[in-house]
Formats: sequence, structure tokens, C-alpha cells
Amino acid sequence: MWKPSERLMETIRHYASFPATGVSLRQMVQFGDRPSTGTLFRASQFLSEELPIRLAHRVQDLGELPDGLSDMPSIKKVQDWYAQSFEEIITLSRPSLTQEVKSRLLRPGRMNGGGSKILSEVTHNPSVREGQYRSSPNSINGNGNGKAAAAAGRRYFVPADDHADWPPELNDYNQRFAKTLQQIKRRHDSVVTTVAQGILEWKRVRQRMQIDSTIQSFLDRFYMSRIGIRMLIGQHIALTEQTHVKHPNYVGIICTKTNVRDIALEAIENARFVCEDYYGLFEAPKVQLVCKEDLNFMYVPGHLSHMLFETLKNSLRAVVEQHGADRDQFPVTKVIVAEGKEDITIKVSDEGGGIPRSAIPLVWTYMYTTVEQTPNLDPDFDKSDFKAPMAGFGYGLPISRLYARYFGGDLKLISMEGYGTDVYLHLNRLSSSSEPLQ
Ligand SMILES: Nc1ncnc2c1ncn2[C@@H]1O[C@H](COP(=O)(O)OP(=O)(O)O)[C@@H](O)[C@H]1O
Ligand SMILES: [Mg+2]
Repeated sequence: MWKPSERLMETIRHYASFPATGVSLRQMVQFGDRPSTGTLFRASQFLSEELPIRLAHRVQDLGELPDGLSDMPSIKKVQDWYAQSFEEIITLSRPSLTQEVKSRLLRPGRMNGGGSKILSEVTHNPSVREGQYRSSPNSINGNGNGKAAAAAGRRYFVPADDHADWPPELNDYNQRFAKTLQQIKRRHDSVVTTVAQGILEWKRVRQRMQIDSTIQSFLDRFYMSRIGIRMLIGQHIALTEQTHVKHPNYVGIICTKTNVRDIALEAIENARFVCEDYYGLFEAPKVQLVCKEDLNFMYVPGHLSHMLFETLKNSLRAVVEQHGADRDQFPVTKVIVAEGKEDITIKVSDEGGGIPRSAIPLVWTYMYTTVEQTPNLDPDFDKSDFKAPMAGFGYGLPISRLYARYFGGDLKLISMEGYGTDVYLHLNRLSSSSEPLQ
């Protein structure tokens, strides 16, 4: 098994002293549907610094957990994955370029989309407290050593000067870089399950019933960072592919015309299917969707599907358990989509009996579930995330809220105990807010 050397750990400590640089959805989409080799190379260069910084923070964070959590075998395993991925990026050999190409790379090119200042400006993410998900728990004021200022000068999207052809070494590097990212993405597929496994190990060894606020905020920071890393990696792999295959309406994994109705219908169908399967129902409770047919906005379809699927599964479960699986008719769950100037808001209303007010704070904690027997954690059952099971890991709501907040949205829950629950999913349509990572 791979183990990090002491020298590697030293390099990791050095990288972890730099703060992460947030990227906004707007910036990610500026690449257009056909980025040039030069522009992609500049982005690869940004990522070849930014990803190691983010990975290094995670290695450190995983090693400094309280109450013996860092010593759990599954946590150590995940820490090694982060260190190994860090090493793979920093040791990837760079192309040797002529002076002429180097200086051309440094010259700013023209924005291909007539890019305005508004597009590149980043605003504060409205649903996140300042520093709530900062890259490390103790870098409160950036040590005053100018590292934050140095990092602020780096950007993900910089248009390159494309007036002439680029040497083949550039494209070759882009391809190798994308391949390395692919390998890393695959390695980290089962991070969520493995960390959850680590927490279970710790609960068992330490006889803990619940996780405290230090571990809760570690997990929030950790999973938020994971969403960001996977977003950048997924985006970059897709952009590299897009240099030779065209996908209309897509810039990387961002769909500029994400159709809310289509995604909601699919999530409803999937959640009902899982519900029928889990409770052995002939027909799952019905879900009514109120949404304009042509409601499109710029978003990552995979994120929206995830959030809707998780909230719908919760509602269907509550409805079935409140009214009894032997019923042949259930109250209808309503999904209402509203289009505002700032937000698109999706409300999921069920008549599943609600949640007692005292339990509301708990629903946002990881591993909180009212399912009696947590299903077995099989790290391979679904490579990408907790998706397959009906319920029982207590990850559905907290992770969905992170996805919402990642692009400046939010997820809120209001319950009427004895009647039902309303979940509000706010999605920011302007998306100029930066990733909540600094
Ligand atoms: N719509 C809902 N109605 C009633 N209870 C809910 C609803 N959504 C969530 N909950 C409660 O919150 C808990 C945590 O939800 P979640 O994070 O999705 O984890 P899981 O579904 O795996 O239990 C659930 O176990 C349930 O008790
Ligand atoms: Mg759930």
C-alpha cells in the first residue's frame, strides 16, 4: 500500500500554509464551448497549484482531528488518498517551452465572449458566514504574511493570446494533466462512504453516540472542499474533452440551459422508484410538480438532481411512515418551482407528519437519522455518492445543503409537527458568488 514519505509530508505542510482561491460559476463558464489550447493550458497551470493547496489542507485537517478520530483506519486511508493525489499533481512533468511561447502565455488575450468586468468579478457568497468553510480551521487572518494577497492574483480563467498556433507540447501537457485528474477523481469516489465508515469506527471505539460541533464543522468544511475539488476536476476534464468534441449548451459540466422541469421529473421518478422498492409498495405516494416548461438556468445538472432526489426521498419516506405502508392512497407531495430575478426557489411540501422542533438542529448533523438500523456501508455500492439507499446514513440533508451553498444558494427546512414539512431549495441564478472556501 502507498504511504507518504516524510519529505512529501513536509511539502504538504508548506502548501497548506496557503489559502485556497475560490472560483465562481461565472468564471468557470467563461471558457465557452471550445477553449483554446493556450487558455486550457493556463487553466491547467492554475489548477496544478490550486488543487495541491486544497488537497494539502485536507491532509492536514484529517491528521488533526480531536478525540482520536484521526487514528481510525478509514480516516488514515482517506488521508493517504489525499496525499497520494497531491504527489501525483506536483510531480507531473511540465513541458519545456521556448521563451517566445512563455511570454505569449503571459500576455493577456482577448476574451472570446466579449467578457465584461461583471463576469469576472466575484461577490461574497450570501448564504455563508464569513470564513464558515475556510480552507483550514485556524487560518483566521491569513497570518499577515501576504500569502492571501499572492493567491488573490491567481485566476482560473485567463484567456490566452491565440493569434498563432500553440506548440504540440502544450496540448500534450493538457492531455496528460486531464488524465492524471481522471485517475485522482476515481481514487476519491468513495471518500464520503469511507469517512462515514471512519466516524462509525470512532463511535464504536470511543463509545460515542453523537458527533460534537468540532467534528460537525470539520465534516462541513471537508465535504464542502470535496465538492469544490470535484467541481474543478470534473470541469477541467470535460473542458479538455470539449476541445475536440462539441456539446451544445455545455461548458464543461455546467449546463447553460439546465431545464428545471426535466430534472425535477427525473428526480421524482427515481425517488418514487426507490420508495416502492424499499417499502414493497405497488405504487409510491404521488408527487405533483408545478413548474414552467421552459424554465432554464445555468447550473450543474448533477448537483440539482442530487438535492432534489435527497429531499424527495425524505418526503416520501415521511409520508409512507406517517400514514402506514399498507395504505393504498397517500397525501400528495407538492414540488413548486418559482422563478425570481435573483433566485430560483423550489419548495418540496409533504404531509409526512413533520419533525419535532427540538430535532430540527439535528437534521443538519451528519449521521443523524431516524432510521433504526443504518444500512451496511459498502464503499462500492455507489461510486459517486450516497444515492442508492432510501435513507439511513443521515447525510442527505447536510450534503444537499452544501451543494446548494456551493453556488450561493441555500437549503432551508420548516416543519409543522403533526402535519408535514416544507423544504426550500434556493438556487442563485446570477452565480457570481465565489466558492465558499477561503
Ligand atoms: N420531509 C421530512 N419529514 C420528516 N422528517 C424528515 C424529513 N426530511 C428529513 N427528515 C428527518 O431528518 C433525518 C435526516 O435526514 P437525512 O439527512 O436525509 O438522512 P436520512 O434520510 O439518511 O435519515 C431523517 O432521518 C428524518 O428523521
Ligand atoms: Mg434522506
